[in-house]
Amino acid sequence: MAKRQPIGFFDSGVGGISVLKKAVELLPYEDFIYFGDSVHAPYGDKDVEIIRKMSFDAMDFLLSFDCKAIVVACNTATSAAIEEIREKYSHIPVIGIEPALKVAIDHTEDGKILVLATIRTLQENKFRKLSEKYAESRKIISLPLPGLVEIIESGDQYQQRSYDYLRDALEKVDRDISAVVLGCTHYPFVKPSLRRIFGEDVLIVDGSEGTARHLKDVLVEKNLLSADDNDGSVRIFNSSKDKRFIDLSKSLLEENIDQI
Ligand code: DGL
Repeated sequence: MAKRQPIGFFDSGVGGISVLKKAVELLPYEDFIYFGDSVHAPYGDKDVEIIRKMSFDAMDFLLSFDCKAIVVACNTATSAAIEEIREKYSHIPVIGIEPALKVAIDHTEDGKILVLATIRTLQENKFRKLSEKYAESRKIISLPLPGLVEIIESGDQYQQRSYDYLRDALEKVDRDISAVVLGCTHYPFVKPSLRRIFGEDVLIVDGSEGTARHLKDVLVEKNLLSADDNDGSVRIFNSSKDKRFIDLSKSLLEENIDQI
């Protein structure tokens, strides 16, 4: 596998851009290919078999560019399909993403943790095992947010729709929490709305940074890190013919979500 080959990323839509962004910052000399499957978004309310099929299609598309590693930049696809993907594409390193519960627990002394994710992510065994692991030390509350991915995919520029949606969805949820875990790669893009609702004292974390670091570790371990010191490139593709998704992906890649 040549070091100069690109790294592939895929998600159900524009959400995985939040992970790609961290990877580009950490690995500036790499070339990246991003595939968003906006035609089929959301994945979060679909059956496992359908998500697996769509994940295989995304993998085949990315591998047509001879990628040296693939990041499944989607919690839902990771939950439903990561084992099957690794089995089918065993010749290539595949990195998944999971809700950053450990980060939230490590960075708060006590208090409840709220996990926001898709229906599928919260229903799968992977999340059940993960939350059982930490349930002794903390109370973990989980809440699915069906419909939020669609709002983000529609390009909610001023975050009015996402704010209204989240205000209603979180109305009955315990506000006495110390951290919110964003267990869907779309959700970092509505951090301003979440900040408005939770205020400044609640920690809001997501898995993008940990996933980018894991990707780097895997590339180092397999001796696949680009040896080139010219800036790398990012190419973005989408299953939709509507150019709006490419434009939205590019603008989200530029967005500064870290300061919020
Ligand atoms: N970005 C996907 C995730 O991380 C969104 C899932 C969906 O399409 O419902 O889970």
